[in-house]
Amino acid sequence: MKNLTGKVAMITGSGRGIGAHIAKRLALEGAYVILHDLEIHLLEETANEIRAAGGIVQQLIQSDLSDHDAGDTITQRLNVEKIDILVNNAGIAPVRSFQEVDQSMFNAMVDINMRAVFFISQKLLPYMNDGGRIINISSSLKKTYAPGFITYVSIKGFIEAFTKYLAGEIGGRGITVNAISPGAINTGLNPWFETEEGIKVLLNDQALKKLGQPSYISDAVAFLASEQASWISGAIIDVDGGFKLAP
Ligand SMILES: NC(=O)c1ccc[n+]([C@@H]2O[C@H](COP(=O)([O-])OP(=O)(O)OC[C@H]3O[C@@H](n4cnc5c(N)ncnc54)[C@H](O)[C@@H]3O)[C@@H](O)[C@H]2O)c1
Repeated sequence: MKNLTGKVAMITGSGRGIGAHIAKRLALEGAYVILHDLEIHLLEETANEIRAAGGIVQQLIQSDLSDHDAGDTITQRLNVEKIDILVNNAGIAPVRSFQEVDQSMFNAMVDINMRAVFFISQKLLPYMNDGGRIINISSSLKKTYAPGFITYVSIKGFIEAFTKYLAGEIGGRGITVNAISPGAINTGLNPWFETEEGIKVLLNDQALKKLGQPSYISDAVAFLASEQASWISGAIIDVDGGFKLAP
């Protein structure tokens, strides 16, 4: 028997990158996955890969998380009565210095990386089975100062505080709420990750001398989603190769 047989899991931003890997992993564990993204062609690609690997795709939901009603839109479109696992993964990471951040960029980041996480969790909660799981995605950049990431990391700080408070709020239903804080993960979008300089910089900052892969994050999500993690809640788990621990 697989770990998540019969569970229903929704993963935001699962058209590509880390979210797509999480969706594939949870499907391999037997979950019925609800894929969500802005881009329908990305959703279809992920769905095809999952089906080809023998997984079950319950539904594709295309929606824009910049929309303030994203939580309502998603719940209205659900084609299941109950869900068990929500992974708030979708996020954007534009790089801009403090002086360059304007209202429109700030608003987009608040909408997608923060407001959507808060209200999707709130609106989906009545549809969640007791004993369910909410897993948020933070970032290990909080451990250091990285130029250009002031808005991104400040908002990830909100996500971590929200994770702990929501865990306290809904723990009585046996629903766990945790966050994973990934280090640098090569999702194939940023060619710098594969340059000699990029590899040197990344490995220099990590205690473990191997580069971050999406599977490290999806493995951690699969664990938090499993029965074996039923007594872990309000935790922020660094999955970052020991980022900033190296001398
Ligand atoms: N890749 C990394 O190194 C890294 C490190 C730390 C944390 N993270 C976090 O992991 C999560 C996923 O990152 P990723 O690297 O896979 O990113 P990505 O850009 O590869 O994927 C993000 C997904 O979210 C979707 N998305 C973006 N804006 C949306 C919107 N308005 N509405 C709906 N969907 C939208 C995109 O279409 C995409 O499929 C993010 O929360 C990110 O902050 C990533």
